[in-house]
Amino acid sequence: MRRQKKVTQHFLQLSKEHVIIWEHVDKLEKTLQAQPATGAVLELIEALCEDMAEHFAIEEEVLFPAALMGLSDLDVVDDVLTLSKEHGYFEHDFAHLREQLAGMDAAPPLPQEDSVRISHILLSFRQHARLETESLFRQMDESRECGKILKGLIVN
Ligand SMILES: [Fe+2]
Repeated sequence: MRRQKKVTQHFLQLSKEHVIIWEHVDKLEKTLQAQPATGAVLELIEALCEDMAEHFAIEEEVLFPAALMGLSDLDVVDDVLTLSKEHGYFEHDFAHLREQLAGMDAAPPLPQEDSVRISHILLSFRQHARLETESLFRQMDESRECGKILKGLIVN
């Protein structure tokens, strides 16, 4: 039997707004503009990945199922499938990036082509989060059924 994940209201709200994720992305983007050392970028990516894994888990185990059950709309199903698939792409891209940066000297500046590649991933990440916050989660906030389902998943 599937064990349902439980979250606090506060944590769920932070996750819906992507607050923690934006902090990582902003910091990483700002750092990339200043020709950082490879090791410094790797550290930031590792911190991002740690919180991203938890963030994705909340979305996949709490928010997406609540959206599918509460909104019961084919466009929503399509969005959830797309978003879930993109989670897999990001996990793959970041894992590959970590492996690559970990194999490089930490002190020299990050090569420009790697900086550009990371910026592209971060841009896709922002677009992905925009679909969630501006479309899916907004529809969920307006749905009484989703509210009821989520209420049942919240602990104090
Ligand atoms: Fe997501």
